[in-house]
Amino acid sequence: MINKFDPASADALSTADRALLARRRATLGDIYPLFYERPVHVVRGSGVRLLDADGVEYLDAYNNVPAVGHANPRVAEAVHRQLTRMNTHTRYLQDGVVDYAERFLATYPAPLDHVIFTNSGSEANDLALTIAAWRTGRRGVIVTRMAYHGTTALLAGVSPENGPSMPLAPYVRVVDAPDTHLHGEHAAEVFADGVSAAIADLQASEFGVSAMLIDTILSTDGIYPGERGLLAEAFRRVQAAGGLVIADEVQPGMGRLGEHMWGFQRHTDAVDMVTSGKPLAGGMPIGSLVLSSDLSDGYARDHRYFNTFGGNPASIAAATAVLDEIEDRGLVAGSLEVGTLLREGIRAASAGSALVGDVRGSGLFVGVEMLGADGQTPRDTARLMVNGLRDRHVLISAVGLTGQVLKVRPPLVFTAEDTAEFLSVYGDVLADVEKEGAGS
Ligand SMILES: Cc1ncc(COP(=O)(O)O)c(C=O)c1O
Repeated sequence: MINKFDPASADALSTADRALLARRRATLGDIYPLFYERPVHVVRGSGVRLLDADGVEYLDAYNNVPAVGHANPRVAEAVHRQLTRMNTHTRYLQDGVVDYAERFLATYPAPLDHVIFTNSGSEANDLALTIAAWRTGRRGVIVTRMAYHGTTALLAGVSPENGPSMPLAPYVRVVDAPDTHLHGEHAAEVFADGVSAAIADLQASEFGVSAMLIDTILSTDGIYPGERGLLAEAFRRVQAAGGLVIADEVQPGMGRLGEHMWGFQRHTDAVDMVTSGKPLAGGMPIGSLVLSSDLSDGYARDHRYFNTFGGNPASIAAATAVLDEIEDRGLVAGSLEVGTLLREGIRAASAGSALVGDVRGSGLFVGVEMLGADGQTPRDTARLMVNGLRDRHVLISAVGLTGQVLKVRPPLVFTAEDTAEFLSVYGDVLADVEKEGAGS
């Protein structure tokens, strides 16, 4: 993780922030790192803006939890209304969860017609892997080289992004993401061949092939939207080997890629399970596992799933309001339109820069591949960009094998004006980083 505060540099913070940091460390410890070399102390938000404790406004070009904007009034009102009626679990007949399930499932292609609600993307992925192991009778899981899929012990075992201190499970095989920057038009083929090798390796082991679990925008791997269909052949090979394909839509889902509601739809409809979480409910906890009734009903014959808070009425009210906002404000089409402006704008602002190797994206999910220069690695220049933008009150982050790819993923309510503001600051920071490199 390159976008990380080092508590040893607390001296650079204001007196008030230093005091809060000390109390935070005394209670929460250092287990959740903060973003940025100088953390941002947020107190309020509205739309794509966040305000810090000194009243300074930040342009949020990073967060997908507030997909329909920070402090969205429709979401807040829906949650408030529900909390003043009742909030309990899913073991009673309730209208809200069924109404929402019907609308939510209508955004998926056949035969994905059942949903199980959880509290987080992690819980959804954990259950998906459990169901895949049950259906196939096998354990082997294929993931990409820098994948992150969640927090449970099962998911830590399939999340190489955590690094060597959290070892992978023995039944996991890691494949390189389809690196469209490196392999160009051959990326799909190179990826599918990597997946075939992983399949062969698992089949030769005691584990066999149970599932491929994949983030369909490959966010932590470095953001590779690629051409439509990029992932299709690899998925086909997993399924031909009897494995299930689980599309992890925590990052790209809910219309972010601008063409469809779900990222996998850019490549193929032929996936077996789909998980999501983060962008579904404006920050209220919810996760989803969508699968066919055949799979769900088969599993339910001799298993049960009870999750106290999963699909609770307040989270469902928030999720319903988010779906209303997405539909009423045309945010999927908006993501395509504004995302194209953003991507093309970054490309234009980076043209001629020796520091930018590639600008790629789909909808409001853009990756900027930074290059090294003058003794600085690509990771160094990415870090300078992330913190330079933060110092000018624009929030992004960085991902990729070495943390070399800028991750620009604003709320879906980002406008053309926000894009113009972003591009102006981006151009200034890029020029500064170029100068800094030349001076080193
Ligand atoms: C691709 C992906 N999958 C799963 C998760 C886990 O989701 P959650 O934090 O809601 O458990 C994340 C979280 O960042 C993620 O990015």
